[in-house]
Amino acid sequence: MAGRLHDKVAVITGAASGIGRGTVDLFVKEGARVIAADVQDDKGERLEEEYGKALRYVRCDVTKEGDIKAAIDLAVASFGRLDCVFNNAGSGGPLENAETVTAEGFDSVMHLHVRAAMFGMKYAVPIMRAHGGGSIISTASIAGLQNGFGPLLYSVAKAAIVHMTTVAAAQLGPMNIRVNCICPGLIATPIFAKGMGLATQVADQTVAAVAEAAKNSQPIPRAGLPRDIAEAALYLASDASSFVNGHALVVDGGITVGPTGDAQTQVYAPFLKAMGIDPGLLEQMSAPPKT
Ligand SMILES: NC(=O)c1ccc[n+]([C@@H]2O[C@H](COP(=O)([O-])OP(=O)(O)OC[C@H]3O[C@@H](n4cnc5c(N)ncnc54)[C@H](O)[C@@H]3O)[C@@H](O)[C@H]2O)c1
Repeated sequence: MAGRLHDKVAVITGAASGIGRGTVDLFVKEGARVIAADVQDDKGERLEEEYGKALRYVRCDVTKEGDIKAAIDLAVASFGRLDCVFNNAGSGGPLENAETVTAEGFDSVMHLHVRAAMFGMKYAVPIMRAHGGGSIISTASIAGLQNGFGPLLYSVAKAAIVHMTTVAAAQLGPMNIRVNCICPGLIATPIFAKGMGLATQVADQTVAAVAEAAKNSQPIPRAGLPRDIAEAALYLASDASSFVNGHALVVDGGITVGPTGDAQTQVYAPFLKAMGIDPGLLEQMSAPPKT
């Protein structure tokens, strides 16, 4: 049986690690040919060795417009077409807050996330239009939907990607170019350790510990994995989603639905205490169903 991306060509940025790497693996397995774009050349070269004719690695710093254009042009030069661009490269960025924000911090985060996704779209559109359509996907975040999941600048940038998705979807839909984004929850990758200043090689070793720490962070009792986001990207890249446009697909194990378990009962605890009622009553609310 042909794969779900049989004959399709995709450009994936941030392809060397985490979500991007997981998406490369799944896209190739499903029959796509892939341009893997990143700044980690050693990992990119290993991807080329692993996937042979199905993949080309290109060094592409997504903060540089020319690098993005070159990566997209390489898809046509190498594989003759372009069906999907996955604007995924990113990092946590500076931890500046509303009082300490700097112009440099602001510009670096917006360039890495918002401007890169915008230019990924810009250079894909003429090629996709000429070929009758395509799918543009960007990695936003639950941090772009609500407070509490990332630093200020990162969250603002991800919110901008969500809105860019809706406005661009309206503009490009008539050309059969679909624009969607994915809002991951907590996904076990090196991004957290890198965001805290650890070197990439050290951060790469933290993934298992992050996965262990995150397994009870959301109602689904396991950590989010790159494969979870890759499956969402596969759906959005494939013809199965041909009527899905302008959507922000949340893949977070339910973390954004609100507090669960003990955390949920703790919301009410002060009220019960104020009324002189035993807060122990609340345990019934969070007790798991009897099997
Ligand atoms: N891991 C999570 O919990 C999570 C949650 C929400 C959103 N995201 C988003 O997912 C995307 C992927 O992150 P990840 O968790 O897989 O992290 P990761 O660190 O494993 O992967 C990010 C990749 O982007 C690359 N990259 C960074 N700056 C780049 C640049 N200027 N040009 C080209 N490539 C660059 C890195 O080299 C790396 O390979 C990011 O946009 C991130 O904001 C992650």
